[in-house]
Amino acid sequence: MLRFILGFIGAVFSVVLLISFFGNVSTYLTSPPPPSAEEEFHLHPKPLHLASDGLLGKFDQQQLQRGFQVYKEVCSACHSLNQVAFHDLEGLGYNEAEIKAIANQWQTEVPTVNPETGEASTRKALTSDKFPSPYANETAARAANNNALPPDLSLMTKARHGGAAYVHSILTGYRNQAGYKNEKGVELLKEFPTAKTPNGLHFNPYFANLNLAMPPPLTSEGQVVYAPGNPKPTVDQMATDVSAFLVWTAEPKLAKRHAAGLWAVLFLLVATVLGYFAYRNIWYGEKAVVRPTGALDPKNQVKARSAKRKAGIDG
Ligand code: HEC
Repeated sequence: MLRFILGFIGAVFSVVLLISFFGNVSTYLTSPPPPSAEEEFHLHPKPLHLASDGLLGKFDQQQLQRGFQVYKEVCSACHSLNQVAFHDLEGLGYNEAEIKAIANQWQTEVPTVNPETGEASTRKALTSDKFPSPYANETAARAANNNALPPDLSLMTKARHGGAAYVHSILTGYRNQAGYKNEKGVELLKEFPTAKTPNGLHFNPYFANLNLAMPPPLTSEGQVVYAPGNPKPTVDQMATDVSAFLVWTAEPKLAKRHAAGLWAVLFLLVATVLGYFAYRNIWYGEKAVVRPTGALDPKNQVKARSAKRKAGIDG
């Protein structure tokens, strides 16, 4: 009896669940939720071509140095590179003396402890230090940035879908929200009046939720002054250069990996060809013979016949 009651309760629950499931499915199908502003207006990164792209890509050192200059003069005011040390700049073609000078003159000092008093203090950066955050801690960083935290940029091009192209699009993607239309000609604020960018945020359709706490960091041509012989520092050029630099910070050994991959593929090709000829050499003159096995093997047939004879069965 108890079993029956429990079974009945279970069945009632299952039926209720099924009814509510099909109810929800039919509501979803008959009146789907209206598209959100993000769905209609979020843009995918614009294509970006860098020397390091592709299977055989190599870094353009000149460009990386320009990108580092943009990081140093603009981005480092808010972002750290806590996976990259000053001495890693060797990879960009700087010599030891230049790297020492860069560390020594870095605008943010590195936290330390005063050995005499034990008090927290700061000191000049050494070449073994990582590029420091300008903020004492997360609370200070958020306080200075409208409660958003400027993320560490070392691995940013690996962390975001689109990589360098995403960073470049974010940097060049700030738009005036008033009157902004998508490619279908729909005006954002007419269609979604509630999607107005809140105070302190900045409209950028390349950012997933369209509103970014980072104010546009690159705003005018010549904001960073490049050494003679370099391209004109337009906003697009500076954004491209700093994106290329952030590909390097995320994978400084990329060119080496590409070269190693190429050698590995060449080696495997040669080994395959050698293996094939070795096979031909060893088996030269041998005919392919299919040997009968099991019941068809003549040896087994003899055995089978004698066994049958012993057992008195005609074979
Ligand atoms: C005034 C401070 C400030 C400066 C200068 C600055 N940023 Fe930011 N950045 C921020 C803040 C704050 C965020 C977090 C934004 C958010 O979460 O809404 C951010 C976020 C980012 C992001 C991550 C976006 C994402 O998808 O989460 C990237 C990439 C970035 N910054 C790159 C740069 C680069 C490159 C520069 C230099 C050209 C730069 N930033 C300069 C404050 C700054």
